Amino acid sequence: MLDWDALEKTCHSCQNCALGETRTNVVFGTGDRNAKVMFIGEGPGEQEDLRGEPFVGRAGQLLDEMLAAIGLSRRQVYIANIVKCRPPNNRDPLNIEQDACIGYLRNQVYLIKPKIIVCLGRIAAMKIIRADYKITQEHGLFEKRGETLLTATFHPAFVLRDPRKRPDAFMDMCAIEDQLE
Ligand code: URA
Repeated sequence: MLDWDALEKTCHSCQNCALGETRTNVVFGTGDRNAKVMFIGEGPGEQEDLRGEPFVGRAGQLLDEMLAAIGLSRRQVYIANIVKCRPPNNRDPLNIEQDACIGYLRNQVYLIKPKIIVCLGRIAAMKIIRADYKITQEHGLFEKRGETLLTATFHPAFVLRDPRKRPDAFMDMCAIEDQLE
């Protein structure tokens, strides 16, 4: 495993998959490198690609609200994605792209050693928790892996498209707060 400096440097010059050719910026991850909670999305969108920071578009505003609901700001958690470069037209990242990129995330998890990993949406949950993860049935539940608790909630972009999912997403945040206490 690499230290933060080496990891960030390697990631910023990565050409392990074709997304490296179309990205504007690598979106490495932001927040507290000693955070107790780590949030993992699927991949950068347009705004994130332009700014080089995760969850800065509309979905990011909702993520900020979800964090605020349990008294957290994005500076107190760590936020990253399964793939660090934007998939063109915001399509789902391909398995080959996820596999090319997942080593960076594993290294980040190794360095942060979060108490809780929260997958945002089914793509992240299927990669991190289980390939057959069912987000509608299993969101908000916790399972232990080693010293870490794994959970998932709905992706904020999905909640924006279907506001009926909002109460569930906020209840999942409360469950995370309970686990932190
Ligand atoms: N959606 C994601 O999954 N990640 C981001 O960084 C932004 C939107």
